[in-house]
Amino acid sequence: MFLITKLGVLIRGKMATILVTGGAGFIGSVAVKTLLSNGYSVVVVDNLSKGKKDLVDSKAKFYELDLVDDLSKVFEENKIDAVIHFAAYKAVEESMENAVKYSSNITGTINLLNRMVEHNVKKIIFSSSAAVYGEEKGVISEDNETNPCNYYGFTKLECEKIIEWYGKVYGIGYVSLRYFNVAGDGGLKYMDPDAKNIFPIIMEVLVGKREKVVVFGNDYDTRDGTCIRDYIDVTDLVKAHILALDVDYNGVINLGTSKGVSVKELVDWTSEVIGKQVPFEYGDRRAGDPPTLIASNEKALKVLNWKPERSVKDMIKSTYDAYKQRV
Ligand SMILES: NC(=O)c1ccc[n+]([C@@H]2O[C@H](COP(=O)([O-])OP(=O)(O)OC[C@H]3O[C@@H](n4cnc5c(N)ncnc54)[C@H](O)[C@@H]3O)[C@@H](O)[C@H]2O)c1
Repeated sequence: MFLITKLGVLIRGKMATILVTGGAGFIGSVAVKTLLSNGYSVVVVDNLSKGKKDLVDSKAKFYELDLVDDLSKVFEENKIDAVIHFAAYKAVEESMENAVKYSSNITGTINLLNRMVEHNVKKIIFSSSAAVYGEEKGVISEDNETNPCNYYGFTKLECEKIIEWYGKVYGIGYVSLRYFNVAGDGGLKYMDPDAKNIFPIIMEVLVGKREKVVVFGNDYDTRDGTCIRDYIDVTDLVKAHILALDVDYNGVINLGTSKGVSVKELVDWTSEVIGKQVPFEYGDRRAGDPPTLIASNEKALKVLNWKPERSVKDMIKSTYDAYKQRV
């Protein structure tokens, strides 16, 4: 994928330098690789709490730092033109047990914004989440009510609001991208070290790391009784960030496919694509799981001129290839 962006071409006659926070994680490491292959210079900050240093392309400059640490040297040693801010703790259940840890999603973002103000950095792309919508259901547009039902979602919504205020007060351009379920492999053979989502859980069953998939609830009001979700490929998702660097628009944008796949369909399609039966059983419903959660991506299409290209079956194949090679 090669995208020449206005930002890249115009900044001081050379390609812009992008600070990627969380660049050693699942999505951030793909973003680092993609930015580099599009000619950008890249600086990464990651505390390696979950990320892995070996996922970070060696052409990027790496700082092992927590976002709440003193970030001065990152901004003093590099002329940062824009920030893509992925770094955050993201486990929903853990956020309901350890709010102290998750508060650093907010304080770290404020610290980052303060350094941006100090060094006159005028653009931020923020990783937000469908979790800001809480128990909204069906096809969700950016106009739906935000009402997070876990602390993780609250931290994302707070960051969105703080970023919006820094935009008003300091003229920082911002796009907060609300991701739905991110899956697939962006070419780095990523294996989730702490699988909590259905995609990596299915993969762990396939490679023999767990016995079976437990599908939470089969009595929802959906076509087969299991929950319906919207899965977006990591490569498509990252492309939207690079386009967002360049748009003259401030606000929130959903990133999804506008299509829903049920958990049972995901299990069946995996068996079909991989040619190996995925053992599963039905368990109880989980509290707070809405039956259907699909992103309306109309705004992303319009504002970013972005369209997801990869199907769920492509994501199954690429993720399985990654897991097969890593185990
Ligand atoms: N994966 C998804 O389906 C999904 C969906 C919605 C939103 N998001 C958001 O996208 C972003 C990236 O998600 P991911 O799936 O790549 O997660 P990830 O855990 O793989 O990556 C996050 C990275 O941030 C680092 N990090 C966390 N807290 C930090 C801190 N305080 N200081 C410095 N580094 C820190 C971690 O070490 C990790 O490398 C997160 O903000 C997450 O909330 C992800």
